[in-house]
Amino acid sequence: MRRFIHVRHSIWLFVIGCCGYATAQDSRPMIIPVESKQNAVVLQVDAKGQLSTIYFGTKLSNSATYQQIPATYQQTVDYSGVANAAYTAAGSKNLFEPAIAVVHADGNNGLDLRYVSHKTISRGPDVEETSILLKDPLYPFEVTLHYKVYKAADVIEQWSVIRHTEKGNVTLQKFASANLYLKASRYWLKQYHGDWVQEMQPEESQLTHGIKTLDSKLGTRANLFQPSVFMISLDQPATEDQGSVLYGSVEWSGNFRVDLELDNLDNLRIIAGINNYASPYILPANTAFETPPFLYTFSNKGKGDASRKLQRWARNYKILDGKGERFTLLNNWEATYFDFDEAKLKGLLKDTKELGVDLFLLDDGWFGNQFPRNSDHAALGDWQENRKKLPNGIAALDSMAQRNGVKFGIWIEPEMVSPQSELNAKHPDWVLRQPGREEHYFRHQLVLDLSNPKVQDFVFQIVDSLFIKAPKLSYIKWDCNAVIYNAWSAYQGKQSSQLYVEYVRGLYKVLARIRAKYPTVPMMLCSGGGGRVDYGALQYFTEYWPSDNTDPLERIFIQWENSYFYPAIASANHVTDWGKQSIKFRVDVAMMGKLGFDIVVKDLKEQERTFCKEALTNYSALKDVIWHGDQYRLADPHEGSVAAVMYLDEKQSSGVMFNYLVNYRYGEGSKLPIRLKGLDPCKRYQLKEINLYPEEVSTIPDNVTFAGDFLMTIGFNPQLNLKRTSVVIQINEAP
Ligand code: DGJ
Repeated sequence: MRRFIHVRHSIWLFVIGCCGYATAQDSRPMIIPVESKQNAVVLQVDAKGQLSTIYFGTKLSNSATYQQIPATYQQTVDYSGVANAAYTAAGSKNLFEPAIAVVHADGNNGLDLRYVSHKTISRGPDVEETSILLKDPLYPFEVTLHYKVYKAADVIEQWSVIRHTEKGNVTLQKFASANLYLKASRYWLKQYHGDWVQEMQPEESQLTHGIKTLDSKLGTRANLFQPSVFMISLDQPATEDQGSVLYGSVEWSGNFRVDLELDNLDNLRIIAGINNYASPYILPANTAFETPPFLYTFSNKGKGDASRKLQRWARNYKILDGKGERFTLLNNWEATYFDFDEAKLKGLLKDTKELGVDLFLLDDGWFGNQFPRNSDHAALGDWQENRKKLPNGIAALDSMAQRNGVKFGIWIEPEMVSPQSELNAKHPDWVLRQPGREEHYFRHQLVLDLSNPKVQDFVFQIVDSLFIKAPKLSYIKWDCNAVIYNAWSAYQGKQSSQLYVEYVRGLYKVLARIRAKYPTVPMMLCSGGGGRVDYGALQYFTEYWPSDNTDPLERIFIQWENSYFYPAIASANHVTDWGKQSIKFRVDVAMMGKLGFDIVVKDLKEQERTFCKEALTNYSALKDVIWHGDQYRLADPHEGSVAAVMYLDEKQSSGVMFNYLVNYRYGEGSKLPIRLKGLDPCKRYQLKEINLYPEEVSTIPDNVTFAGDFLMTIGFNPQLNLKRTSVVIQINEAP
């Protein structure tokens, strides 16, 4: 719905142009509220056509009252008058971090963007897109701001499209997706840092004046040290159930940059998008530069509510097959590493069936002949089956899997090339490398130039040929282990400063082609752990690999932090031999997402094997609520000795509660009851412990029922102690 609000003392006129745009007809202010079910971003056009943000937060019941907001603030002077610009342009009156900086065709770097028109169109049930056209009054240069509002989900995707018709190329020096402006007494940033096997380490701190930047310059697996997901709490740090909090994330699988600038008025400017680091972009006339979306949601009910909004949105609109099913699997990486042959794999296919999972996933090491892939030093790029290990190829494995009544999946790392490979020898110009300089390797490998259409074809064909050889292939694990060193592209040549941007665009082109031909085949986004997960990529992938660290104790923390931003259905959790915990503890933790195994099944004791099979049966009954239900974080492992997470269906009638002891000092346990959330206070629920070893009897009686209000006010004690470190409770509405 299109909305126009007449500001006090003004009669704001508008007309609908032939293209459906509203256009300004006089010089008086106009307000453009961009509203979701509960939130609003309110923009204002002043007499000079300057577009600014006058409000960000909870929606007001009467949108006409947004006009009264600016007068209620008595902050210090905004000298420039554009500190709250909706898209800050460098080179005119701006005094802060810009959203856009350009060098025009004539060398001038001044830019001034003024409102021209706006429109709102429907993008499907419950989704609306408002676009606002801004133009430079002097140069034929324009930017359209897009706000795609997922109304019920309370999520906005915001991006910009930049165009010009100047006589020559314009250089874009900065090209953000979005520029938000928040007002509060104080701002608290929750951000993440990490490294291999230490992903998603949280830090929360109060923002001080000046700029705090979250960014990546790694090129490919951009999240290795820092992901683009973050939270901003307003006034005070939000808790799980209280406080105002914004979640933000750039939908981009390459270098990103988020600037958080606290200005002289004590307002927070958030400027987010692709990182312009070493990336001036040459934009020819009549060509659109479209930024990726910056994604955000806001809640005044705490971090839990905000994350459930984001998770629901992700399942309904973004993650591939977010509302669908997933395969449980047995992976051979940690069971064999590179040391396998057809006979060994035949045994693993039998184990897959025997364990009761859906699919066998063949990992790294199956390819390369001139340079066999027997370690991570060779063969990336040579995607032909190794004749010694797999004399009958993957087609035979695929058929064998069918005969065993399981599905077959395979690992690839298609963006990469080993220096020791036939591909590198044949197409040296397809590889990112600096001519004449020493070459630098990350995990002994180089990165292919995905900005080159020929390389895009090659990568598409890697996937396509797998399906041609093994038509029943049911799963792909897409790995990516190197960062971009040696950042120069033979294909881009003098325009190599565009490489970081064009690499990701090239990757998305390949993924879009794959999805056009193979729309639903599940694919895991992996990168030596959680170095790569974002919503730009997840539109092509069904799941991601949070970390190579599968020690279940560590995973509780990693999965906990990821769960703020990504739903459980997308979290690939494998049971491995990492950590000292029991198989039960390991399986319980892996069940909080998409369950898989990467163990030697034959090494399991009889009792452990029986436990796994029964747990898989339980998982079949619970996976719907884990994958598609609402998630509630009940007890934070960072704050006490216990972690507890629950999943509940929409009808508030069935769910599951996972509880873990995370501190093993003397006398530790669940001393207090844990309050459940999201239940119907008027219903009665039966809570029953599941995932027990054969013959094990729970200390929790399973014939007691509790009122929903009791469970949410007083709570339930899962009776964790040093002998019961992991307890899974099934929740069902009492008959
Ligand atoms: C890194 C992944 O995270 C692992 O699971 C495994 O697939 C290896 N790569 C294989 O090289």
